[in-house]
Amino acid sequence: MAHTNPTPAARVAERADQLARHSAPYRDPAARVQWQRLSPQSFWLPEAALSLHGIPEFDGLPLADRRRLSHHEFLRFLDAGLWLEGIFLERLGRACARPDAPLATRMYHLHELREEAGHSLMFLEFFRRSGIPTDALVHHDDRLLTWLGRSLPFDSALFWGAILLGEEVPDRLNRHVRLHAGDVCPVAVELCALHSMDEARHIAYGREILQNRVDQMGAFKRVLVARSLTWLLKRFVQTFYYPPQALYDRAGLPPAPWAARAQRNGIRRAFVAHCLGSTVTRLRGLGLPINWP
Ligand SMILES: [Fe+2]
Ligand SMILES: [Fe+2]
Repeated sequence: MAHTNPTPAARVAERADQLARHSAPYRDPAARVQWQRLSPQSFWLPEAALSLHGIPEFDGLPLADRRRLSHHEFLRFLDAGLWLEGIFLERLGRACARPDAPLATRMYHLHELREEAGHSLMFLEFFRRSGIPTDALVHHDDRLLTWLGRSLPFDSALFWGAILLGEEVPDRLNRHVRLHAGDVCPVAVELCALHSMDEARHIAYGREILQNRVDQMGAFKRVLVARSLTWLLKRFVQTFYYPPQALYDRAGLPPAPWAARAQRNGIRRAFVAHCLGSTVTRLRGLGLPINWP
């Protein structure tokens, strides 16, 4: 019997079907976290993952100050996650209503929607139990990216490239927390681990679609998409790795231009480059010449 190669669309549908089978035994992540272990007496991010780590004026501050910064930076990390997941949920919700899409992808989009909603619920539960009032937080608000996230065509390479970066950039920090579990509050570790487990599938799916779109592009379009994604990557890096000055003020650090110091902090830059190196390498492997760092 003659075998024909599956079409690109059939390959995506096959991948969606395979991932959906892994997603099917769903358990609410917020119900799995042992919340009673959440403690303000421990760090919520490893010290090496703090934006000011390596700056002598910060490293010389009392333990309570450094720990409090880890609480505020972790909550900001979750807040930025809520922002991104909120946009993705909107887009997935609309995509699920498209009767022209293959059944397998519609089903997988619903699995993603359920999982992202589960993450957002888990993040909000963390906020509720953190003891830090939400009005003390510096919320993430990037109007240009919000507009782009809502407007890019759902089937475009740029949309899936943006989704992939939006999943990978925070996920690299999740993985760093898991690797340094002994230095961090066990609830923060559990949250990062539960998030990462689902993200591994979301990332695999995003990569499959992006590969599919890139394979159909000429060299010129690849360069254009790679430039756009490089710009987006830098913007996500600012969001997730470089807090604004207001965060340091609300975290109660002594008055100083901490945000500007974080931007100049070579140890921070090296940390971010280390975290995201594999993401950039994989994007280049898909045929997108990303120019970063
Ligand atoms: Fe998520
Ligand atoms: Fe995700």
